[in-house]
Amino acid sequence: MSSIDHPFLRNPDKALFIGGKWVDAIAGRRMDAINPADGHRIATLAEGDAADIDAAVAAARHALEQGPWPRFTPAERQGLLLRIADLLEARSESFAVLDTLDMGKPVRFTRGAIPLLVDLLRYFAGAARTIHGSTPQTSLPGMFAATVKEPVGVCGAIIPWNGPLWASVLKIGPVLATGCTLVLKPAEDASLAPLMFADLCAEAGVPPGVINVVTGLGPTAGAALAAHMDVDKMSFTGSDATGRRIVQASAGNLKRLSLELGGKSPHIIFADADLAAAAPAAAMAVFVNSGQVCSAGTRLFVERSIHDAFVEAVVAHAGALRFGDGLSADTDLGPVVSARQHARVLGYVEAGVAGGARLVSGGDRPAGDAFGQGFYVNPTVFCDVADDMRIAREEIFGPVLAIFPFDSEDEVVRRANDTPFGLGAGMWTRDVGRAHRVGGALKAGSVWVNCYNALDPAVPSGGYKASGWGREYGPNHLEEHLNVKSLWIQT
Ligand code: NAI
Ligand code: MG
Repeated sequence: MSSIDHPFLRNPDKALFIGGKWVDAIAGRRMDAINPADGHRIATLAEGDAADIDAAVAAARHALEQGPWPRFTPAERQGLLLRIADLLEARSESFAVLDTLDMGKPVRFTRGAIPLLVDLLRYFAGAARTIHGSTPQTSLPGMFAATVKEPVGVCGAIIPWNGPLWASVLKIGPVLATGCTLVLKPAEDASLAPLMFADLCAEAGVPPGVINVVTGLGPTAGAALAAHMDVDKMSFTGSDATGRRIVQASAGNLKRLSLELGGKSPHIIFADADLAAAAPAAAMAVFVNSGQVCSAGTRLFVERSIHDAFVEAVVAHAGALRFGDGLSADTDLGPVVSARQHARVLGYVEAGVAGGARLVSGGDRPAGDAFGQGFYVNPTVFCDVADDMRIAREEIFGPVLAIFPFDSEDEVVRRANDTPFGLGAGMWTRDVGRAHRVGGALKAGSVWVNCYNALDPAVPSGGYKASGWGREYGPNHLEEHLNVKSLWIQT
């Protein structure tokens, strides 16, 4: 165990959080929490499985139907979410450092994300007061009809490792706003912040059983949650391959599903754009969090007349990014999350080279002893990439950018849309007509013009095509957690 002084790691052996209590996995198995910056163990986790999922779902069902939670008014749910937001704000540094230690993102970024997460919780707090049905006029004589919104019930959520606190807030916020209950299964590579956040929720007054956290592996704990016959809704964020398994597992009781499955997002640079702003944005659209971002702009299309100069500017920006201690304020780039992900990313680099793409920069580990034990990858840029290569089609989830020249608007729209995914898309141009034309033609849930990866609690985010089902953020996010009941009264 490495000797890191963090309040949550003073007791480094973590348990499951079920029914408001910290409990060991029934089978007693444990697994390691690893710091990807040096490969050292920083904590151990309980390895829950199907039996622990059963216990957590039973606790969530009990809390949904009995005890104080079903009697919480919207005002009380709002107050609870506001207390959680205040506590997170007060402890932001502790959460930022914990995420950095557990998954490698430099603290500048884990810290930078917290104001948005606090804002999200306050948004959901407000949203708890906005839930309402309607009274449609019927054409049946003497008949009154009203619609009523009810919590969908026991929710399950499975989250990835690229933003453990972020994903926890996104799953817990709407559950509390609507009066549902939750069993959360964090990613095995980054479970610490979700556990600490569950602890914070309990401290804020979330009743026992409303939020449960079962750490464990995907194929055991995760699969059991997705297949559970007493879970009413599943929300999954992760790879499209696992997303397909969730769909199959959910068929038993036909539970409601929302899926956020990543992508291979196009980022288009027209020659008329503000290139001085576009080049660093294009680099950071893929290199931030070492490429482990679902909406990363991994396919960069550059108009041919500016292609070579733009590639040079992107490579220069990438080359100036600083690796280093994730806890130091001026570090730009950290490791990827695990040895497995490191090997996976370098495997894609090999596939790119073998396929004939031109490696312009990166593709290896940064030099220096400091990086030898960690899972670091230099920012990697490929040119001369064919549209059908694996590095042009599959989500890599590492700092790997493929750059393509293009000649016309129609051509770039067709190529940008030629992907099974449709999460995000970006475009830089000063031509407002083109911004509307191209923005309308791109098949993606979010289109950013002269910016990339902008997010706000009020604005929906989600995928077209194989990038997923449903939307998070905004009013749609709440609706996914509500059932509509039509009430008929013969007057
Ligand atoms: P994954 O999609 O398998 O893992 C995400 C979550 O799903 C984890 O909590 C995991 O325990 C769980 N899981 C895994 N197998 C499961 C199963 N059979 N049933 C239920 N839950 C299961 O992703 P993984 O293996 O960590 O990463 C592989 C690739 O997936 C990455 O290289 C990246 O391309 C993609 N990915 C995409 C993400 C996104 O947000 N778009 C997030 C994480 C990974
Ligand atoms: Mg870890």
